[in-house]
Amino acid sequence: MHRFGGSSIVCFCNKIELKLMKNEKIRAPRNRTVTVLNEERASLARDVLRLSELTEPQSLRNSIINADFTKVLSFVENHSVDLLILDPPYNLDKDFNGFKFLSQSDDDYSNYLTQVLAQLKPKLKRTATVYICGDWRTSISIYAAARKLFKVINRITWEREKGRGALRNWKNCSEDILFCTMSNEYTFNLKDVMLRRRVVAPYKGVDGLPKDWKETAIGNFRDTSPSNLWSDITIPFWSMPENTDHPTQKSEKLIAKLTLASSNKGDLILDPFLGSGTTAVVAKKLGRNFIGIELLEEYCLIAAKRLRLAATDTDIQGYANGVFWERNSLNLQRAIAESATVSEDLRAEPAPSLFD
Ligand SMILES: C[S@@+](CC[C@H](N)C(=O)[O-])C[C@H]1O[C@@H](n2cnc3c(N)ncnc32)[C@H](O)[C@@H]1O
Repeated sequence: MHRFGGSSIVCFCNKIELKLMKNEKIRAPRNRTVTVLNEERASLARDVLRLSELTEPQSLRNSIINADFTKVLSFVENHSVDLLILDPPYNLDKDFNGFKFLSQSDDDYSNYLTQVLAQLKPKLKRTATVYICGDWRTSISIYAAARKLFKVINRITWEREKGRGALRNWKNCSEDILFCTMSNEYTFNLKDVMLRRRVVAPYKGVDGLPKDWKETAIGNFRDTSPSNLWSDITIPFWSMPENTDHPTQKSEKLIAKLTLASSNKGDLILDPFLGSGTTAVVAKKLGRNFIGIELLEEYCLIAAKRLRLAATDTDIQGYANGVFWERNSLNLQRAIAESATVSEDLRAEPAPSLFD
């Protein structure tokens, strides 16, 4: 037993983090998880609105609200939201810091989601987009609910690299995001969500020049249009500066893709299941407005802390120079930034999609 800061802890030296107090853990030196320290709580709480403090709709812009979203909606202006990002509890047994969500039948979950969507729909502009996240099973119910209220345009599947293996099943390594709109008129900024890939088999045109890729001193690259299959997402983990203790945190890169594709600067994004605040943080970094609602105070405080950090750190891991990068390409991005030859190429290349 070790004593630390007046609190007793049990030390398991091979573990990355040790429980210290209810809200504080000792982390390994390289662990960059965003945590709320006890001495920060009061100050961060002042950045979070409570139901009793809500007045007219405009006051909610760029706010985190600690409440059940159903109670907040009457304060949100009708037809004001450009983008709705919905990451509800999936149809699984899940403990959100004491708030337990229990799995239901597919039909019951679909009914729950239909009610959620029906309450949110009046807040959306006629040109709005809606993204709804789920795993493979939740996804079945999401489609059943969404098609009643919106135009379903596509389903994105992204590779969720983390996950336990199973002995008698295929390891669950994918999640879905249903892409829906209110009407046929909607924002889609394709050029803002291009994916930069290494070219494995470079081919040249009849003139002997690279066809749709770029040759540089440190490799060959192509900027490709994003498909509905995403293999470039990393789930936040302890060495990433965006990581928190929220059990189902989405990565900033994933939310940035949705944000850049389906909203413009100054637009309003609503996230009624804000969790650790990813949507709010990304909105702030990309010049959008947001309303974020979260039931649990602990997560609101984490979100508030992340928003403060976003005031000075606007980086989004995996998104640099106006393009999204393949997974595990940070060293390559650094090399490109540092390479004089590539910088020359960068200046010589006027096309917005390559090395801008
Ligand atoms: C899947 S998580 C969202 C994670 C989030 N996208 C992130 O990146 O951290 C769902 C969140 O919804 C919250 N929640 C559940 N029911 C809610 C309700 N009725 N109103 C507001 N928040 C709710 C849970 O506490 C949980 O944090």
